Amino acid sequence: MKKTLNIAVLPGDGIGPEIVEQALNVTKAVCKRFGHELNYTYGLVGATAIDQVGEPYPQATHELCMQSDAVLFGAIGDPKYDNNPSAKVRPEQGLLKMRKDLGLYANIRPVTTFDSLLHKSPLRAELVAGADFMCIRELTGGMYFGRPQGRSEDGDTAYDTCVYTREEVERILHLAFKYARQRRKKVTVVDKANVIATSRLWRQIAQEIAPQYPDVETEYMFVDNAAMRIIQWPKSFDVLVTENLFGDILTDEASVITGSLGMLPSASIGLHTSVFEPIHGSYPQAAGKNIANPLATILSAALMFEYAFGMQSEGACIRRAVNASMEAGVVTEDIADGAKAYSTSEVGEWIVKWIEQEK
Ligand SMILES: NC(=O)c1ccc[n+]([C@@H]2O[C@H](COP(=O)([O-])OP(=O)(O)OC[C@H]3O[C@@H](n4cnc5c(N)ncnc54)[C@H](O)[C@@H]3O)[C@@H](O)[C@H]2O)c1
Repeated sequence: MKKTLNIAVLPGDGIGPEIVEQALNVTKAVCKRFGHELNYTYGLVGATAIDQVGEPYPQATHELCMQSDAVLFGAIGDPKYDNNPSAKVRPEQGLLKMRKDLGLYANIRPVTTFDSLLHKSPLRAELVAGADFMCIRELTGGMYFGRPQGRSEDGDTAYDTCVYTREEVERILHLAFKYARQRRKKVTVVDKANVIATSRLWRQIAQEIAPQYPDVETEYMFVDNAAMRIIQWPKSFDVLVTENLFGDILTDEASVITGSLGMLPSASIGLHTSVFEPIHGSYPQAAGKNIANPLATILSAALMFEYAFGMQSEGACIRRAVNASMEAGVVTEDIADGAKAYSTSEVGEWIVKWIEQEK
């Protein structure tokens, strides 16, 4: 079905503008091929936004995001703020404010391997070949947001509070079961229910919800076991769902098994518009050099078609094009492995052409 897609484009800082430009070109090519109309509007975010209007997530950007069907995001962060701990306004505050204001409660990171990159994985190729799972991390609750948090008066005792409500747990578990239905129909609920009260609530609610999805297998796993299993047998996972702190750690662990940071996309889903972005940062050393790998952002555009617009064929088309570029060796220096390295824009242009010409 042909549609009109309205997207907000937030390039951000560092390599953000270069990689987002390629992802946007790929998005345009897919829309043209499948007959969709694309409207896109640029917005300010991060250090660029601080420099231009004094705040990292301006109200105008928020309104743009709210009016759009999806947000395509680059990265934020600038050394001039990283090296100045006393700066009052920081680019990262923009990212946190965006997550909060858009109610982005679930971060989704697909972990897929690429045959031509298997040798770059820190794990043996036979362990990772064919691994294909999805980590869903709760993003707005748990210990990062629970209060009270702080220090005793003498400064020698510190405390954090981990809080979860039934509503927060239910909504993310339902999301996990629904995504599992579109995949291999298995959910692994990761917690520490043998020790932590919030984990016991997670497990109780998961046990209540699971019967509503009888076609999905539910597995419960303690987080320490999950941390081992991700490196011992990554192929055993389909959809892994967990709370904020555990998810922060496990998703980073899972992301390195695929071999390159420049390859991994993510989606943040919530109460309002969803955001699609690479998991890496603004890689300031490469900014303006046209050398950064654009594939994580291009694959984020694939997620955008699938999750924001329910367009599976369009997402699959981007994945085929990305795989073809890797098989043809049209890749940036981070994965070229001594062979000829192509520039950011050359990789993007090759993928656009492939999409236009695919039979
Ligand atoms: N979501 C975000 O916007 C986000 C996430 C992480 C870090 N940051 C910010 O980014 C800035 C730099 O942080 P960092 O250096 O710790 O992390 P980074 O992800 O920007 O870079 C770390 C390393 O990963 C590699 N890398 C990252 N992206 C790549 C790409 N597209 N192509 C090829 N190689 C790539 C490079 O070797 C780079 O040195 C900081 O200001 C940080 O706060 C932002």
